[in-house]
This record gives sequence, C-alpha cells and structure tokens, in this order.
Amino acid sequence: MSDKFKFIEQKVLEKIKPKPEEYREVEKVFSIIKEAIESVLKKHKIEAEITLQGSIAHDTWLSGDHDLDIFVLFPKNWEIDELKTKGFNLLLEAAKNIGNYEIKYAEHPYVRVRINNFQADLVPAYKLDHPSEIKTAVDRTPFHTKYLNSKLNDYLRDQVRLLKQFMKSIGVYGAEQKTRGFSGYAVELLIIKYGSFRKLLLEAEKWKHPIFINSLESEELFKKIKHKLVKKYPESVIYMPDPVDPLRNVTAAVSLKSLATFIVISRCYLNNPSTNYFFPPEKSGHEDLISVIDNRCIVLLELTIDEELSPEVIWGELQRIGDRGAKVLRNNDFKVIHFSVYTDEKTRGYIAYELDQCYKDYPREYVGPEYWTGKRTLNFIKAHIQRQSFGPWINEQGKLVSLSQRKYSEVIKILLDRTWEYLVTPHFKNKKPIVKRITHEEINNLKNNRGLYEWIKRFILKRPHWMEYCIG
Ligand code: CTP
Ligand code: MG
Repeated sequence: MSDKFKFIEQKVLEKIKPKPEEYREVEKVFSIIKEAIESVLKKHKIEAEITLQGSIAHDTWLSGDHDLDIFVLFPKNWEIDELKTKGFNLLLEAAKNIGNYEIKYAEHPYVRVRINNFQADLVPAYKLDHPSEIKTAVDRTPFHTKYLNSKLNDYLRDQVRLLKQFMKSIGVYGAEQKTRGFSGYAVELLIIKYGSFRKLLLEAEKWKHPIFINSLESEELFKKIKHKLVKKYPESVIYMPDPVDPLRNVTAAVSLKSLATFIVISRCYLNNPSTNYFFPPEKSGHEDLISVIDNRCIVLLELTIDEELSPEVIWGELQRIGDRGAKVLRNNDFKVIHFSVYTDEKTRGYIAYELDQCYKDYPREYVGPEYWTGKRTLNFIKAHIQRQSFGPWINEQGKLVSLSQRKYSEVIKILLDRTWEYLVTPHFKNKKPIVKRITHEEINNLKNNRGLYEWIKRFILKRPHWMEYCIG
C-alpha cells in the first residue's frame, strides 16, 4: 500500500518540481531586477539590501509559478513614513526602468513588475537583527526565510510542494479573502512539524476544530501562549503560532469551510490515493448544466464596482453581503441551502443563492413570544389579529403562534426590496443590485464570461472534483 502512495507522490512531483531551465530563468529575472534596483540606490546614495524571499528563496515553489518576492531592506533608523514614501519611491523608480508595473496596496504600498511571464513584488521593509524589532507585517518575512532554510532539506521541500499542489487543487491554498485557506508559510510549517505530506494527512483526517498545532520548539512556551492566541484570534478554527513571532497565528485566515475541506479530503486520499486529487480536471462543456437546473431555485445577484478596490476588500465585502443576504432570506421564511460569491475583481461582484423554493404563496407560521414575556404577548396578539391570519393560538411549548399572510411570496422581491438590510458594507451601500433567477436562457448568457460561468457551474453541480475519487 505504501508503495502505491510513493508511486503517486513521485508522479506528482515529476510534474510540479521546477526544471533546471526554470531555475535558470528565475535567477536571470532576479539579477535583472536586482541590478535595476542597485543602480537606483546608487544614484540616490542609499544603502539597502536587496533580498529574495518567499517560496523561491525557500526553494518550495511550484513549476510554472513565477512569482518572485523581492524585499528591499532599508536601515532600521528610518521612520515608517520614510519607508513608505522614500523607500517605496525608490522601488517605483526601479520598476519604471524594468518594464510593466503596477502599484499594490497591502499594509503598506509595494510595486509589482512584470517581465515576460514572470511577476515580481518589490516590497520595502526594514533590515532588522531580531524579530522583536518588527515594525510592519512584512518585516517578519526575512525571519521566516532564515527559519525555514534552517529547517528544510530537499526531502521536506518536495513534501511542501506536494501539500501546496494538493491544497491548490482543492481550493484551500492561499490566505487571502478570496480563499481563506492556508498560506505558503503555513504549509511549510505543517510539513516541518509532521515530517511529510502523508504523515500530516494521517493527523489531519482525525482533526476537529479548534485545532492547536505546536510549531514551536518548546512545549512549555506553547502551553503558555495558547490562551493568549485564542484571546487574540477568537474566531480562528486552527491555531499555529509563528515560530519567529509566537503571538501571531499563522493559520488565522483559515475558514471552517477550508479546514473541513482539507480534513475530509485527507481521509479520501488515504482511503483511495490518486494523482487526480492534485490536478483539477480540464473544464468540460456547457451542455450538462441545462437539465440540472430544472426544478431548482437558483438566484443570481449582481453588483457593480465603480472604483478601484483591492481584491481583499472586494472579496471580504461580498462575503459579508452574501452572508447577510442569506439571513434576510431566512428571516422571511425562505430556506437558503447554499450560497457563494464571485468577482472579476474589477467591475462586478456576484452572489448566488440556492433555495428550496423561489415562491411561497401559502400562509406562514409566525412563532411569537413565550407566555411569560408579559407585554410582548399582547403585542403579538394585536399584530396578528390585525393581519389576515389564522390564530394566534398557544402551542404545546407555551408559545404564541400564528398562521398569517406572509410579507413576501418571492425571493427576488425580497432581495430587491430589502437591500438596506444586507448591502451593509462601505463600497456596496446604496447600490441597486440586478437580481434574476438562473434559467436556461440565463445560462447561455453567462457562457460569454468564462470565470463567471465556471463559478456558476461549480455552484450548480455542487460536488467538488476530488470527491469523485474518495471511495475506491
Ligand atoms: N506571508 C505571511 N503570511 C501571509 C502571506 C505572506 O507571512 N498570509 C509572508 C511569508 O513570509 C511568505 C512571504 O510573505 O514567505 C511571501 O508570501 P507569498 O508569496 O504569499 O507566499 P510564498 O511562501 O512565497 O508561497 P507561493 O509559492 O505561493 O508564492
Ligand atoms: Mg511567493
């Protein structure tokens, strides 16, 4: 059996390990960028260290992923504002000499440059001697690189690659709002902790949240900080301290959905291993969608974006709106079975809701207060006698109940009428959404927009690709 796993993992590695040619290309790109930055620094007579960070520096990158994380480390006696303006502007000047570039905003701004099919983030940070001096979020990164390179060997690096590819394929890789999964650094720490891809899966298939993973050397320190982490990150479902800054939870971004997906697929893989888990299948045609939407209530809500916003903001706000919208529907006695959000990150955001029914024209059960709530019982009686209703009456649990005319008999009307209840985020407040039911015709229209179409298709079909292989 173990041979079967080894064979599969070897096969996957053959595909995902970068080839010598790719290493040479990466080095070439790095040296071009380095020289461009060096000459700008020289021109302005500024001392700074140009460093390669992230998965390329850890040698844990995947073949075809050509993202360089280049951190330029400025003197630590600079003010933060100096770093954000002077430091940033130096990198911007270098980027202009390199080629295509774009300004990006995280906790502080950085520059993204493109050369051929490579992309490099140029990030200004501080040159520090010890993690205790960390001033901005990006200052941890050079310490991560040092730490990882002291722990990783060739075997572990391959195991990291396997886990990254596995998580990518099932959609739980990446700590950004879009995914709310595991960051590259989290993957690296998990492999260091458990020793291999498969050993981690053997643990993970038994996990139940909240999960605590001691990524520190000391058991005592871990015990001491555990409750502090919980206090600092009350919403987290998995806790793993950052070895270079233990009060930071590396897995803070992981959603319950991502965690649960990883746990279930771990069991699937161990039960029935296959290379298929690592590679999502090619996108298939469009025919199969038409027949499966009959007798279903799937509603698509569309919002326009008319200013430049970071993907973090867009995905974050859409998720909140999606969640609020589901609550509004539930409050109106409609059963939301599933919802999902999507955005092209530029012009439009979408929310899809699937409900058991789109129309309800029969009266609704309104459950009122309990008999001991005093005046509230009178209010309920008054309200429901005034309405066309059967009741109120008192049920076996001692609660007032009424069967009354409902306010809304269709889903689309609720979403169009009650926008103020769910369009609550700063950039979508007061917007007018387009809301429509997904029909055969609508499916055909969506076909023109590839990203949107693939998303709605997954929403309609529900079952993730890897679940097909769970049972041998
Ligand atoms: N980082 C972090 N936490 C995050 C994102 C990034 O600590 N949520 C830091 C880590 O030090 C990481 C570096 O930023 O090594 C680069 O981040 P990124 O490019 O997102 O990850 P990589 O580790 O380079 O992985 P990938 O192969 O996906 O690029
Ligand atoms: Mg990277």
